[in-house]
Amino acid sequence: MEERKAPVLFAPETDSTNLALRRLAADGAVDGTVFWAARQSAGRGRLGRSFASPEGGLYYSLLLDAADDPARDLLLTPAAGLAAARAVERVSALRCGIKWPNDLLLGGRKLCGILAEGFTVGARRCLALGIGINVNTAAFPPELEGVAVSLWQITGRETDIPALAQALTEELDAAVAAARRGDGALLADYRARCLTVGRHVTLLQNGESREAFVLGVSDDFSLAVRLPDGSEESVRSGEVSIR
Ligand code: BTN
Repeated sequence: MEERKAPVLFAPETDSTNLALRRLAADGAVDGTVFWAARQSAGRGRLGRSFASPEGGLYYSLLLDAADDPARDLLLTPAAGLAAARAVERVSALRCGIKWPNDLLLGGRKLCGILAEGFTVGARRCLALGIGINVNTAAFPPELEGVAVSLWQITGRETDIPALAQALTEELDAAVAAARRGDGALLADYRARCLTVGRHVTLLQNGESREAFVLGVSDDFSLAVRLPDGSEESVRSGEVSIR
């Protein structure tokens, strides 16, 4: 395997590893730089939410240069989900399902969340792929009980977090390279793990909630759904809850 050129940086604590990467990018950090932390004081989630980030989790972000043509980056988000699922599998032998777009689930509960954020540094367009995994968390706050799950809760043993971070780096490097060359195997593996397809769901978009049936994941990573009136639509954003 070719040696990795970009650095993998660690801090015991930061506000958000995605934000830390933005600061590093402003100081000239290169494509492929990783920053991970043992806890976050201001973890960021999708749709403007916060992401609880106590000790015991893995909080990890990868800096990427965006492609000139945004269509070429469409596979990076599923690549991040797949890489996280494969890394978890390597250290625990547990197979994760994926809830579109990118929550990893075990037994119907959320093991991992992913936040892809675009930003610019001067004329340079960058992407921070942020991944939060519940690893050795023994208990969650009451509002997350029954919703979130950790590897520890399922396996009953501690997972070596640096070893998981190393596996994640290797899997991400491979999946990002595959996404950048448009490798179709990536979406095939994503579709095989996607728990949302073939299910009746509630779509939550712009404060509005609608029922739909999920037909599949399209090549551009949007969700193809059928609405109760028989019309079909592509869903690109928002939240999907499986009924
Ligand atoms: C979500 O499920 O809403 C996405 C959560 C993403 C959390 C990760 S933890 C590492 C990175 N840094 C952040 O502040 N957020 C992402």
